[in-house]
Amino acid sequence: MKKTLEQLKQKALGEIQRINDSEGLKNLETEYLGRKGKITKVLREIKDISEEMKPVIGKLANEIKIELTDAIKTADSKFSGKSSTDKGFFDPTLPGIRSAEGHLHPITQMLERIWDVFRSMNFDIVDGPEIENDYYNFQALNIPQDHPARDMQDTFYLKKEKNKSVGKYGELLLRTHTSSASQVRTMEKNKPPLRVIATGKCYRRDEDVSHTPMFHQFDGVAVDSDITFSDLKGTLHHAMREILEKDIKVRFRISYFPFVEPGAEFDVTCTICNGKGCPTCKNTGWLEMGGCGMIHPNVLKAAKYDPKKHQGFAFGFGIERPLMIKHKIADIRTLFENDARFLKQF
Ligand code: PHE
Repeated sequence: MKKTLEQLKQKALGEIQRINDSEGLKNLETEYLGRKGKITKVLREIKDISEEMKPVIGKLANEIKIELTDAIKTADSKFSGKSSTDKGFFDPTLPGIRSAEGHLHPITQMLERIWDVFRSMNFDIVDGPEIENDYYNFQALNIPQDHPARDMQDTFYLKKEKNKSVGKYGELLLRTHTSSASQVRTMEKNKPPLRVIATGKCYRRDEDVSHTPMFHQFDGVAVDSDITFSDLKGTLHHAMREILEKDIKVRFRISYFPFVEPGAEFDVTCTICNGKGCPTCKNTGWLEMGGCGMIHPNVLKAAKYDPKKHQGFAFGFGIERPLMIKHKIADIRTLFENDARFLKQF
């Protein structure tokens, strides 16, 4: 048995000399010292030998194990560039190892741009909860229970607590738009005149190349005693030119949103083809950005404003859309896959 162990040791030491990478050393360690290793196997037979030989063999086996482990360690340190004798030596002339430098996610960069543009027009930035209740997401925005407009914004609901009635504010859900934050929530707490934008994550049950279940929006509101549709037009035209950093044209198409009257869809010239028509704009020369309009009197009333004295405009746009146009990103989902090779480009 003594002989077998000695032979195994010599064989292992010889192999260690010949191996030239860490991986090979690891395999060798398992081959000899692992649970099913060659040396371990021999040691299992120790129970069959005479009582007086047991301690002798046991000691030898331990020494061999230590010797092999040390030899493996020394060999391995060559591969990682460190030798066991140079611990503590620091060569200041060697070039340093640069740590990977990150930067803000393109969505955050876009958010900051939007904040800057609206701040320069005297808008305040407000926030609201992502877990919203039915009242602020729908009812206060003139969308009662069972209103067909709810179909456009199907969302995710939170589990109801057993035996608990939901009360005036209704069920909890993931907000479908930031209008819940910019409109009644903020208006309730502030008297007019008011100019705010709310930005953040929203959720809907949609998924394809241009929709993800989680996306971002910015939503704005201005209320005063003499606000007209031209103020809305001027504000949005200026803001979009600044955000996209291009001299674009804008157009308004009549549309329906329960919380505005009149309501409109807001388009900008397609920045990919400069209005000539291309697959991105479906050959129309225009890109749809979002909705807008004059705040509905019922929404003003929900915020305890007097529609006879005050009126205002509201608008709500996605953030991914202008970002995709600006950087010519084809698939929205790539923004949220966290692949550094993609994100590094921005
Ligand atoms: N909240 C609407 C949406 O998400 C957009 C909108 C906001 C329309 C404000 C009009 C006024 O589709």
